[in-house]
Amino acid sequence: MQRIARFEKVSLPRFQADFPGPCGEAGAAYEAVVLPRRATRGSAGYDFFLPVPLTLAPGEGALIATGVRALIDPGWTLVLAPRSGLGFKYRLQLDNTVGVIDSDYALSDNEGHILARVFNDGRAGKTLSLPAGSAFMQGLLLPFGITEDDEAMAVRNGGFGSTDAPCADAPDDALRDLTDAVQALLEGERHPLVNLANAAALLYETLRDVNWCGFYLMDGGELVLGPFCGKPACRRIALTRGVCGAAASQGRTLVVADVHAFPGHIACDAASRSELVVPLFHEGRVIGVLDVDSPRPARFGGLEQDALERVARALENACDWTRAGYRLH
Ligand code: SME
Repeated sequence: MQRIARFEKVSLPRFQADFPGPCGEAGAAYEAVVLPRRATRGSAGYDFFLPVPLTLAPGEGALIATGVRALIDPGWTLVLAPRSGLGFKYRLQLDNTVGVIDSDYALSDNEGHILARVFNDGRAGKTLSLPAGSAFMQGLLLPFGITEDDEAMAVRNGGFGSTDAPCADAPDDALRDLTDAVQALLEGERHPLVNLANAAALLYETLRDVNWCGFYLMDGGELVLGPFCGKPACRRIALTRGVCGAAASQGRTLVVADVHAFPGHIACDAASRSELVVPLFHEGRVIGVLDVDSPRPARFGGLEQDALERVARALENACDWTRAGYRLH
């Protein structure tokens, strides 16, 4: 049996945004989310469980936020169908008949949150009533093939039926003007934390498809979290750990196309797929790193490296590093 996928809970904010019930109930429902699992060793289907109770009279439907996303290796897909017993008893249907979760759906802005719209299509007048925690849907992980002349290159971003969304892969115009924009922001200010905070905000706003952007500064021989934008991140990173530790200890920029393939990568945000880390120098020594993460694989290349290294040089020169409050050396 090939192990080619992993189920994860989506973030609480994502779940709250998609939760169809009253806002006040989203937190408890999120707590009740359990990851899909197979009932027996021989089962093909992963059972998906209800985070909230479900009651459907004949002819009624409901949207279910499962709270789950699937990280699937390329070449595989997750096919969703109603749990067979419920189909048998109530003609329970998925509104999209069968769900097809693509391997790149997890990279979408919505974290690849799996939503199910179900419908009681029963003809015998039976109301379906299931408590929270009941299995209602099953998912099968299946391999798929592609045609000999297939050249699909677009990267998904979006939910239902969005594989035809335009792919934002044009060169990033914003990169050209980035150094000027950063210089303008640093003008007349020498405090490192002020400048790093504003630089993190500018980069986060400017760069497409970035889910974390910020700084770690050296403090007593390890990297310690500095100003950033994105999800809360790990506070301290030893120089022997992660992409940040590697870039700082080697004193060079690292561009990682697939963070899952980088030994020791530290996942602060499960959505991150690629990463670029630029060391910052003062008086010939590394004093910190600029770290940028993306939910898209291979988001960063030579253009980004060049632009962000110029940003790093601008920051090194603009700041009075004695005021950082970190033990930088
Ligand atoms: N991924 C980094 C850790 C920092 S977070 O991405 C913000 C690393 O492996 O060093």
